[in-house]
Amino acid sequence: MSKVAVIGTGYVGLTTGAYLAHIGHEVICADVVADKVARLSRGEIPIFEVGLEDLVRGGLRAGRLRFVVGSEAAVADAEFVFLCLPTPQGDDGSADLSWIRDEAERLGPRLAAGSVVINKSTVPVGSTRLVARVLNRGDVAVVSNPEFLREGSAVHDSLHPDRIVIGADDTAAASRVAALYSEIQAPVLVTDPASAELIKYASNAFLATKISYINAIANLCEVVGADVKEVVLGMGYDKRIGFEYLRPGPGWGGSCFPKDTRALVRIAEDAGYDFGLLDGVIAVNAAQYERMVAKIESACRGSLVGRRVAVWGLTFKALTDDLRDSPALEVIGRLRQRGATVAAYDPMVTAAGPPSGEGPDGRLAGLVLADDPYGVCPGAAALVVLTEWDEFRWCDFDKVRDLLADPVIVDCRNLLDPAAMRRRGFAYHGVGRT
Ligand SMILES: NC(=O)c1ccc[n+]([C@@H]2O[C@H](COP(=O)([O-])OP(=O)(O)OC[C@H]3O[C@@H](n4cnc5c(N)ncnc54)[C@H](O)[C@@H]3O)[C@@H](O)[C@H]2O)c1
Repeated sequence: MSKVAVIGTGYVGLTTGAYLAHIGHEVICADVVADKVARLSRGEIPIFEVGLEDLVRGGLRAGRLRFVVGSEAAVADAEFVFLCLPTPQGDDGSADLSWIRDEAERLGPRLAAGSVVINKSTVPVGSTRLVARVLNRGDVAVVSNPEFLREGSAVHDSLHPDRIVIGADDTAAASRVAALYSEIQAPVLVTDPASAELIKYASNAFLATKISYINAIANLCEVVGADVKEVVLGMGYDKRIGFEYLRPGPGWGGSCFPKDTRALVRIAEDAGYDFGLLDGVIAVNAAQYERMVAKIESACRGSLVGRRVAVWGLTFKALTDDLRDSPALEVIGRLRQRGATVAAYDPMVTAAGPPSGEGPDGRLAGLVLADDPYGVCPGAAALVVLTEWDEFRWCDFDKVRDLLADPVIVDCRNLLDPAAMRRRGFAYHGVGRT
């Protein structure tokens, strides 16, 4: 079992630290936010992620998981140091590497001889070698080990990954990192750092492409009178295509796809390659937000001015508290620009913000937030479903109908049964189906 330091305790770092402790390693997780470290040390989880609390508490009880403020306190004895730091979108679309670069500068003199720095953040091609240069330590190896977990199933995905990718110039270091994961059953791909870095971007951009593709097909379905649910069923049985990421909706969002697709376009641009395909994928997505707004406007008899719109769902998808780049917030912002008043309900978001307290970034300001799905309905010209929370399926729709000013549902996630809604007296509008 190894001594591991994890720098950054967000969705990736906290999950990584918790499951590495779970499989037997001795882990110290560091963050710069003292309050977060204090809460984690008490076993309180600042984000919503199924199964994470059990793992963290188990690690604390077993004495294999600790939390400290600042990386200095974590790395002195560590054989492996994971970087799980933010790489947000920079002004020019590329990933902002300043967190990684600053941390590498700080860690350089402090790392134990013979340790391995493992980068789990999503970073452009060349970053592994950049970190090695900044560390300036001939006795420390740097390895790329991109993370593929999905928020909402981060613990499951970490314990049962489809693959583990390790990119390294130093094959001995790659073998040591592979051994860290020996308890995890998954194919291990050892490759060069540039390929590992590109695998992460290529994977996320491909998934975004699938969603944009099915959104475009859904839009076409509306024009030609086809039902996208049937189309997806017919496509998905083909094993070469599959069903995953073929759910039409209001567009993709979240903390990764928007920034990672733009970063990949930028990587291509810098390399002199015109990635027009990915430009198209991004354009389809931006248009999809607008298309949802037009759909809602038309359902509200052609005008949103002075109308109240009831919204179910704010997070970027179900089973997470993450509001970063949420399509729901994109759509709501546009509704408000067109004169609507929006009242919203989301099981993860109260007036004080989501449990992590990191979401609102001002975009919830002025929104009426309700404590239950019915609280948003009184007087609304339409009910709009923007996140696919399962609890919305099981609401009392007779009550919803009676509360709304007009019995209109715009289901941007195709969550509800159109026939059942129409039987209850709603004018129902889905995506890609009539
Ligand atoms: N969220 C995902 O689903 C996901 C999946 C795969 C990969 N990634 C990538 O992983 C990286 C991290 O993503 P995330 O969603 O976990 O980010 P996050 O914003 O949730 O967490 C980052 C954490 O790092 C901490 N931090 C910032 N500077 C620090 C420092 N100098 N020392 C210690 N801690 C510091 C922050 O306080 C925060 O807790 C990004 O590159 C992201 O693209 C994210």
